[in-house]
Amino acid sequence: MSMVAVGPVAAAGADRVRALAPALLGWRAGRRVIDVGPLEELPLGQGRAFVFERRRIAIFRQRDGRLFATDDRCPHRGGPLSDGLLGEGRVLCPLHGFAFDLATGCGPAHRAVVHEVHVEAGRVVVLIAEPA
Ligand code: FES
Repeated sequence: MSMVAVGPVAAAGADRVRALAPALLGWRAGRRVIDVGPLEELPLGQGRAFVFERRRIAIFRQRDGRLFATDDRCPHRGGPLSDGLLGEGRVLCPLHGFAFDLATGCGPAHRAVVHEVHVEAGRVVVLIAEPA
């Protein structure tokens, strides 16, 4: 999985920073609107992450084409959800294997923060929810 940074990023992800080019488009319904680049740069069946204002956001493109976005931080103990296994509208956290519904964020005992994501003119756009 790769990480894209608007702000500072760990050195390990620096070589992948250029994979997407997130840009703040403005505000919509009280949420920040982020353009994260062309849809074709998101591989099917994988997650990607970027940092916006020190907040890691994960984007998932399922093999059936559906897109999801969450905070890239598992609500259990902070695992990187973008590195988890993706399928059937869920992601399995790579640290302890808890499953989270990507539409609602619901997990076995915790809820991940989810964000609205869709495609506009071929580009992936995320509306970042405020922290719960
Ligand atoms: S940190 Fe994600 S399940 Fe524990």
